[in-house]
Amino acid sequence: MLTTLPGLIDAHVHLRTPGQTHKEDLSTGTRAALAGGFTHVLDMPNTTPPIVDRATLLDKLARVRERAHCDVATFLGGTEANAATVAKLAGHPLVVGLKLYLGRTHGPLYLPHLSSMVDHLRSWPGIVAVHAEGWHLAAAIGIARLFGRPLHCCHVSREVEIELIRRAKELGDRVTCEVTPHHLFLTEDDARRLGPLSDMRPTLGTTADRDALWANLEVIDCVASDHAPHTLEEKRGADPPPGVPGLETTLPLLLNAVHEGRLSLDRLVELLYGGPRGVYGLPRQSETTIEVDRSARHVLSGDTLYTKCRWTPFEGMPVRGRLVSVTLRGKGVYVNGKVRV
Ligand code: DOR
Ligand code: ZN
Ligand code: ZN
Repeated sequence: MLTTLPGLIDAHVHLRTPGQTHKEDLSTGTRAALAGGFTHVLDMPNTTPPIVDRATLLDKLARVRERAHCDVATFLGGTEANAATVAKLAGHPLVVGLKLYLGRTHGPLYLPHLSSMVDHLRSWPGIVAVHAEGWHLAAAIGIARLFGRPLHCCHVSREVEIELIRRAKELGDRVTCEVTPHHLFLTEDDARRLGPLSDMRPTLGTTADRDALWANLEVIDCVASDHAPHTLEEKRGADPPPGVPGLETTLPLLLNAVHEGRLSLDRLVELLYGGPRGVYGLPRQSETTIEVDRSARHVLSGDTLYTKCRWTPFEGMPVRGRLVSVTLRGKGVYVNGKVRV
């Protein structure tokens, strides 16, 4: 029996354009999105060059218009020097928010100084999304509160972090958060098995961290894939970059969790559609739906994927629940297990 759901939103992807298109490009990345049930993705600014001013923004949006097969909106990146100028771009309809990297990860964007974090939260008029782990997360929540700004915490992965967010919400702060499928379904035990393929930022947590995310499911606004493709050669090379792909495995993993009774279907839709739409105030896509077969069995495998990197940390995992079709603005764009664009 087929179930119809709205076209899903992935609030955190890295489509690698411009500059890193050997890992992914707008065409392969948005095909992967459709094959994962996502019709709208929010793309991160840590590209080469990063998206941090008017010129890089307009260049990227021109590429999106030319190459993307689903809706793509973007974050701008905060640097140590662009707080005043980047804030002027906040009203652009395809800019969903400002992304601040408080810790080091893949790419050049990084804000080591407290003063620049404060400058950005003072000047950016909309939602600020943060890559913030541990103390950085506590600081971000505190500073956002001081300036009365909405804060979105990306890829929350630790027990103490989700507890802080719960507390901030209880106190009425405008704080929202997302978790990734890898932090919901993998732990440091899997990291030992997967080696460099499991390296990402934040790193995988303990079973207690993973269990705390599930125990605090009502505190979580979105599940976002943090689709961070790198080639297998890079991941197995001398200096593996952090990140794992996720666009095509997120929905089956969550449908499997529904099958196992760990999640209701309504909550799945909230985490992959209503939550991200609400957090970023996204427009509705007309005549846009997906169909899933909730009982279909299959095994997750890299060589069936549309992402250019064609591997997954969930290789070999049996799941129940599969995407059957995607209709985007009335047009069948995923039919009989194939992207049709
Ligand atoms: O693992 C990660 N990979 N974490 C990030 O924050 C960035 C991402 C990437 O761009 O590869
Ligand atoms: Zn991040
Ligand atoms: Zn990311």
